[in-house]
Amino acid sequence: MFKITTKVLSRPITVIERGIVVPLKAEIHCHVKIIGSLPFRPSQLERRLRRARGLGLDVLTLTEHIEVADYWDIYDCLESLCEKASGVLRWQGVTVMTGAEITLNSGQDILMLGSLDNIRELHRRLGRPRNADPPGFARLMDASDDLDLLRVGAHPCRRGKVLWGIGSPLKRLDALEVNANELSKAAYVQSQSESLGLPVLAGSDAHHWLQIGRVYNLLPTDQSFTIPELRQSLLQRKVSWQKGGLTRSRLIP
Ligand SMILES: [Fe+2]
Repeated sequence: MFKITTKVLSRPITVIERGIVVPLKAEIHCHVKIIGSLPFRPSQLERRLRRARGLGLDVLTLTEHIEVADYWDIYDCLESLCEKASGVLRWQGVTVMTGAEITLNSGQDILMLGSLDNIRELHRRLGRPRNADPPGFARLMDASDDLDLLRVGAHPCRRGKVLWGIGSPLKRLDALEVNANELSKAAYVQSQSESLGLPVLAGSDAHHWLQIGRVYNLLPTDQSFTIPELRQSLLQRKVSWQKGGLTRSRLIP
């Protein structure tokens, strides 16, 4: 019989302490479903929101695979659970960013972070393809250029999904991901990103709720941040990342 205890990442959610803006802790890569083909249950979503809050994350970004049949059921449910102020979704003090993971016809995955309106428009432009007609990299970039979406190359070193073969067009992305499953490659991702002139963001790629916060980003901004502000912070290299979450958990017999 084991009991799982987890230290929170740190303080309760506060932004300004003694006049100093404290960076927000942000998870940018989290799924709601463990297995995409099984039906979505609202309890899966609530468990992930509770976990993010319990860890002390300020921002949780939900990036479900856009190909899953009930993708929009998940985000409809999210909107019903959250307060919405100035276009920002909030759940019990946690800012919830929305997003999608999109698989290319060459196998790699791209994260799109932004408002549901923009993701809906992107989905419409891609023709709601499910898995039948995945876009190529150029088509996905063309379809999203004028949408206010942050475009992140996911797990660039993963076998079968290696991004480097795309070459210089990767510069159309906003960032490359240091993925929690590829931490041994973090320095390589960093150097490849620098050679492309891109910043990095760290993502846990959490499919199970216990994987949330394995890595997280420190965003130098207040809680009313927008995608353009986040993009600007990335361009100015003001976003850093840390390991956390499960690395701070202990199993007690
Ligand atoms: Fe993912």
